Amino acid sequence: MSIVNAKEIMVKAAEGKYAVGAFNITNLIQMEAVVQAAVEKNAPVIIQTSVKPSKFLGREVLVAIYRTLAEAAPIPICLHLDHSTDVEYCKRCADAGYTNIMIDASKLPFEENIRQTKEVVDYCHAIGGISVEGELGTVGGVEDQVKVAEDEAQLANPAQAVEFCERTGVDIFAPAIGTAHGVYKTKNPKVDFERMGTINQLLNGDGVRTPLVVHGGTGLPEDYIVKLLASGGAKFNVSTELKHTLIDTTFEYVSAKRDEYDPGKIDEAVNKAIRGVVGHWIDMLGSAGKA
Ligand code: 13P
Repeated sequence: MSIVNAKEIMVKAAEGKYAVGAFNITNLIQMEAVVQAAVEKNAPVIIQTSVKPSKFLGREVLVAIYRTLAEAAPIPICLHLDHSTDVEYCKRCADAGYTNIMIDASKLPFEENIRQTKEVVDYCHAIGGISVEGELGTVGGVEDQVKVAEDEAQLANPAQAVEFCERTGVDIFAPAIGTAHGVYKTKNPKVDFERMGTINQLLNGDGVRTPLVVHGGTGLPEDYIVKLLASGGAKFNVSTELKHTLIDTTFEYVSAKRDEYDPGKIDEAVNKAIRGVVGHWIDMLGSAGKA
C-alpha cells in the first residue's frame, strides 16, 4: 500500500485542494527524516533525488532503502527522479524501481522536448506503476546539473502546455511560472499565478487529468503557497532548504561540540532539524492527515 507513484497521490491532492510535499534528499539520514515527518503528520509524501546524488549513492541502493522504508510505513510514499536531462538515465531509474521519473527536456526546442518526454512516458508506462513528469518553459536558478540564468528563464505558454501534455501523455506537469530553484533574491519573487490558474483550468477544469507541480519551493512566501494551491499546485518541490538544513545543523553541532567525535549525535541533530522543516511544509501544503 505504501509504494505509490506520484500521479495517484497527486490526483487525490488536486481534488482535495492540498498538495504533496516532494523533498530532495542526498543521504539516508535525510530520507529517513522525511519519512518520519510524513508518518508523524499522517501525510502522503514524495522522496526525490536529483541525478548527481542518485548516481553517487546508486539507484539500486536508493530504491532498496526506499522500499524498506515505504513498506514499513503506514503512508503512501513515492520515489521520484528529479530533473534528469538524459532519456537513458530516466529509463535506468525506472528499471531500478523509482516510481516517478522526471524527464527535463525543457531547455530543448518544443518538438524535441515532446519527443524525449514521450519516449520516457512510453517506456515507463510499458513497465507499469510509474508516472512521468515533464516540464515546459524553463525554471530559473540551479538544480543539480540544470542551470538556467535569470534572463533565460521562460514561462510556459498555456496553449502549448495543453499540446505538450496531450502529445506526450505525461502524468504530471511542471509549467514554468516564475518560481526558481535556489534561494530567491527578493522577498517578492515574480510568480505568474494567473498563468498557473489558466493552465490548470485548461488541463484539469473538467476533472483532474494532469496534476501540476510547483518547482522552487525554498523561500516561497506563505501567501504565494496559498495562491499556488488555489491555482492547482498539487506537488511542491523543496530541495535547497533541506541542503541548507543539513549543512547548517552539522556545522552548528560540530562547532559547539568540537571534541565529541560521535557521528550518531550529528545524525540525530540533522534528523530532528529535517523533520521540523518537512513537518512545517506538510502543514503549509495541507497534506497532514491525508495519507
Ligand atoms: P528549491 O531548491 O528552490 O527548493 O527547488 C527545488 C526544486 O524545484 C527541485 O526540483
